[in-house]
Amino acid sequence: MVKKTIFSKLFFTYLILIIAVMAVIAVLLSYAFNNYVFGEKQQEMRAAAAETVLLLGKYEQAEITYSELNDSLDILGSMTGSRIYAIRLNPEVLANKNLVLDKKLLDAYLFEDLKSILQGKEVSRKKQYSDRFAADVAFLGVPYGQGNMIEGAILFFAPLDEIYAYIQKINMIIWCSALAAVILSGIMIYLAALKITRPLKIMEEGAIQLAAGEQINDLAVHSGDELEKMAKAFNNMKNQISTAENMRRDFMASVSHDLRTPLTSINGFVQGMLDGLVKPQDYPKYLNIIKTETNRLMGLTGEILESAKIQSGEITLTRKYFLVGNTLEEILESTGMRENPKNIELMMDCPDGLEIYADQHRFKQILINILDNALKYTGKNGKIKLTVTPEDGGIKLSVQDNGKGIAPQDLPFIFERFYRADKSRQEVEGGTGLGLNITKMLVEQHGGRISASSTYGQGTEIVIFFPG
Ligand SMILES: Nc1ncnc2c1ncn2[C@@H]1O[C@H](COP(=O)(O)OP(=O)(O)OP(=O)(O)O)[C@@H](O)[C@H]1O
Ligand SMILES: [Mg+2]
Repeated sequence: MVKKTIFSKLFFTYLILIIAVMAVIAVLLSYAFNNYVFGEKQQEMRAAAAETVLLLGKYEQAEITYSELNDSLDILGSMTGSRIYAIRLNPEVLANKNLVLDKKLLDAYLFEDLKSILQGKEVSRKKQYSDRFAADVAFLGVPYGQGNMIEGAILFFAPLDEIYAYIQKINMIIWCSALAAVILSGIMIYLAALKITRPLKIMEEGAIQLAAGEQINDLAVHSGDELEKMAKAFNNMKNQISTAENMRRDFMASVSHDLRTPLTSINGFVQGMLDGLVKPQDYPKYLNIIKTETNRLMGLTGEILESAKIQSGEITLTRKYFLVGNTLEEILESTGMRENPKNIELMMDCPDGLEIYADQHRFKQILINILDNALKYTGKNGKIKLTVTPEDGGIKLSVQDNGKGIAPQDLPFIFERFYRADKSRQEVEGGTGLGLNITKMLVEQHGGRISASSTYGQGTEIVIFFPG
């Protein structure tokens, strides 16, 4: 049983097709050739018959002698590869309607043919078995006579052995050529099928390895067709999977680290208190540290939950009109961002009375995330500029800082879940890499857009467009 692969399907379909076509061509060719050869023989004999009639006429007019006639007929016979008989009947025999001929001398068919010939018809048989010659013969019989009077018949018998041998040779050539053509095209079809299916094979193997969790290189398919596009899509998918996988791994590592560090220190302080190693008058100091740590833990778990909720579409927006400038002031007041420890100057430029139709709580959350980043990634005495401008069908919000900036290779990924550009500084700044991802999802839920541009080492600008 042939394995059901695209390769075998392609190969066998085309092979069977070629064999069928070749067989039909060969059969038609050999049939046509057969016909041609037998036709030629008939033509040849007909020409010789005409010549014989002429010779007989000359003999009758005594222009040539009997032996000259015989010699000429011999030559004609050997030229056409046939035996020639000229039969002359006397008028009485001819007059007798029930022509009596010695049947023993004649093959059965010939007896009937002779009757037709003597009635003035030409009779030809392309192929006839003759007992007399114990072989197949081509036969031609023509009447002979002066004017309208039929006096006899001229008979040609050409044994077909030679023709058969000839035809056999030609058939052999035809079928050998067909076979050679089948073999040659078989090889070509085999190679073509291999070439067509090789990319599929490569993709199949790649997919199996990928499914088994192995790291694989990009598939190299350069067929220039749909399969190459498919391989490219496969490579993209593979790279996305491995990026997601890496992020998940980073996340697991950093989350467990982020969770463990505060938990370890909380555990240490509580244990110290229980063991009496911490004096009761120092309790408030340590309880404050514990509070800070629990806050951090709550923030972290809150962010993770929030991200999961937004992603599963669980939150709904409650939109209303509110003043952008006032809301921004509120944020700066409530978070205490203005009086930050790094003495970063926060400037705001927002037209008075500008309104927006959005979910105010989420709007604040978005801006807190962006401003938090700007503060976190900007050094001492830096500057952050918050600009709001009315735009067609909405407003544009820009947060510009002169902080450390984002490297070009990180820029495309900062909105991805858990992505952090500078992994070594994560402990100091304590981010999870969820902030911008949550921000982006919230902006998009509002029907808006968010983008980032940055010059590494010089600063970053985040631009948000809000409709409404
Ligand atoms: N203003 C900025 N300047 C420089 N780098 C930035 C800025 N904003 C974001 N980034 C980079 O983008 C990354 C992703 O930002 P995001 O807010 O998603 O995560 P995070 O700030 O690290 O953690 P989280 O906000 O979840 O506490 C950051 O880790 C940082 O490397
Ligand atoms: Mg952040």
